[in-house]
Amino acid sequence: MEPIIKMEDINKEFKVVKRREGVKGSIRDLFSREYSILHAVNNVSLDIMPGEMVGYLGPNGAGKSTTIKMMTGILEPTSGKILVNGRVPYENRTKNAQDIGVVFGQRTQLWWSLPVIESFKILKEIYRIPDKEYKDNLEYYDALVDAGKLYHKAVREMSLGQRTLCDILAAFLHNPGVVFMDEPTIGLDVSMKGKIRQLVGNLNEKKGTTVILTTHDMGDVDALCKRIVIIDKGTMIYDNDIAQLQQYFGAYRTLKIQFNKQAENVENEVLEAQAKEVENWILEKYPHVKSLAVSVEDKWINILLNEDEVHMMDAINCIQNNKRIVDMNLQEISTESVIRKIYEGGVN
Ligand SMILES: Nc1ncnc2c1ncn2[C@@H]1O[C@H](COP(=O)(O)OP(=O)(O)OP(=O)(O)O)[C@@H](O)[C@H]1O
Ligand SMILES: [Mg+2]
Repeated sequence: MEPIIKMEDINKEFKVVKRREGVKGSIRDLFSREYSILHAVNNVSLDIMPGEMVGYLGPNGAGKSTTIKMMTGILEPTSGKILVNGRVPYENRTKNAQDIGVVFGQRTQLWWSLPVIESFKILKEIYRIPDKEYKDNLEYYDALVDAGKLYHKAVREMSLGQRTLCDILAAFLHNPGVVFMDEPTIGLDVSMKGKIRQLVGNLNEKKGTTVILTTHDMGDVDALCKRIVIIDKGTMIYDNDIAQLQQYFGAYRTLKIQFNKQAENVENEVLEAQAKEVENWILEKYPHVKSLAVSVEDKWINILLNEDEVHMMDAINCIQNNKRIVDMNLQEISTESVIRKIYEGGVN
């Protein structure tokens, strides 16, 4: 099978004006401008197979949106080869649009003052969606998220969540091979996020649509993405299964403990002091440990440890020797913390 998206050594540079300071500087800027080159995307190579759902992640300013804009044909790469659905996106923008769908969290692709159903009808004409396909999709949408209720509402009268939902439905309406989503869950409440994750997961599965998703919400990633790609300062630093990522930093786990029967009534300062004690006990017994991090969260004392250094059982014994634990709970490291570690420069 051929990749549906193929990027080879893609670079994108922006020429940006260097602004000089103060009034004098601004006036000088009017007459002579100095430019500098900003490397937004550096030598990114990426193959994405049909049907994949890929989380494209990275800190603010990493180059995610720039990459998506190149994949959708909005921006032309400075150098490198890019093919989406077998075509060079920026050379075939109209044709390319037939085979892709886009959802940008911050702005809608729908007609602001029209009822959604009218927007859908326009899209049906633009993309020449066959009657049956169109009808089937609307029925499917209704079954999936009860979308029928929203069809007669104008987009400007919708909440952000309702609008995002409709935007996603619109992006899939012409059954494109690839759908790009740039932060689709931004600003949504927990329940709407859940609904959107379920919708996207279902559409990807039922239609076999390839989905490229950028997000800062690791809940989206956990719910949807099997593969993740991480970009930082324009350079790709990770591309693998999410399952692999969990092991990336060795065997990190978090032990949550409580010493007090009614922990919710205990002052945080007391808990902080207990946390400090725990840290000292472990470090006294295992001075070589580098991974240890002890913190207080929601009245629990959290002990983060790499089990390659100390087994959790040994840590628990060490704590029990000093003070009685009344409740505990062991957790795998979350995607959230792994990704945070990567962003903070933990990759080597
Ligand atoms: N049109 C432009 N002109 C100049 N610089 C740009 C332009 N678009 C993006 N940049 C710069 O390129 C870099 C990458 O931006 P991009 O929007 O791709 O980041 P991002 O990963 O999407 O970040 P975020 O998570 O904040 O959305 C940033 O430093 C940004 O300032
Ligand atoms: Mg962005």
